[in-house]
Amino acid sequence: MKVFAHRGASGHFPENTKSAILEALKIGVDGIEVDIQSAIDDYMLIHDSWLDRTTNGTGKVNEFDAVTIAKLDAGNGEYVPNLQQLLDWNNDKTLLNLELKHTFELEKLAIQLEYNISMGKISRTNILVSSFDHHQLLWLKNRLPWLKIGVLTSSIPISYAKFAEDLNAYSVHVDKNFVNKAFANDAKQRGLKIYAYTVDKEQDIALMLEYGLDGIFTNYPAQTKAYLQSL
Ligand code: G3P
Ligand code: CA
Repeated sequence: MKVFAHRGASGHFPENTKSAILEALKIGVDGIEVDIQSAIDDYMLIHDSWLDRTTNGTGKVNEFDAVTIAKLDAGNGEYVPNLQQLLDWNNDKTLLNLELKHTFELEKLAIQLEYNISMGKISRTNILVSSFDHHQLLWLKNRLPWLKIGVLTSSIPISYAKFAEDLNAYSVHVDKNFVNKAFANDAKQRGLKIYAYTVDKEQDIALMLEYGLDGIFTNYPAQTKAYLQSL
């Protein structure tokens, strides 16, 4: 079962920050999940539409430019990185899961990804874009047919299969509370990887293993890997 660092190694470092991402790379996770919001002029790694919860700033992310946001404290003296910094830090051995939150101007995102690939910073196969907004995913998949797409679902995913098919998706990302063996088998039969979020407790990890999931998102990737290795 693959281990994804959720918002980086966010159990020990401020979420979606450089230290959380570098720690995940050091641990040697299979993947790193980050959240992407649009600022006025850039893509920022931050979960909420608002700056308030995770930084000492206040207001909506999309009303500020990247330089202004980067001056804020995102916890322990960390700053809010932009997408390019993540692409610069990545080792191209780890799957980067970009979860699109409120993101705009997807053409710019497509160009940035293609540019980084052409510069040898990251391979196509190491980029996985997911979102609860399946329309954004559809647009991106049409623009970048090679892109791995993750269909995010937050509750009982009645219509996930239709979206996954329309998107020619790579994976389905499910809330751990709404997954079971039948759902996992159904996804696998459709040729989809199935990953659950956010799985931190040993009893939940064991359950996801029992369901036959392909991977989990966890805030504690080092402990999760150690637990899996101990089994
Ligand atoms: O990508 C999986 C998971 O992170 C989705 O929920 O709220 O943690 O972004 P959230
Ligand atoms: Ca997320």
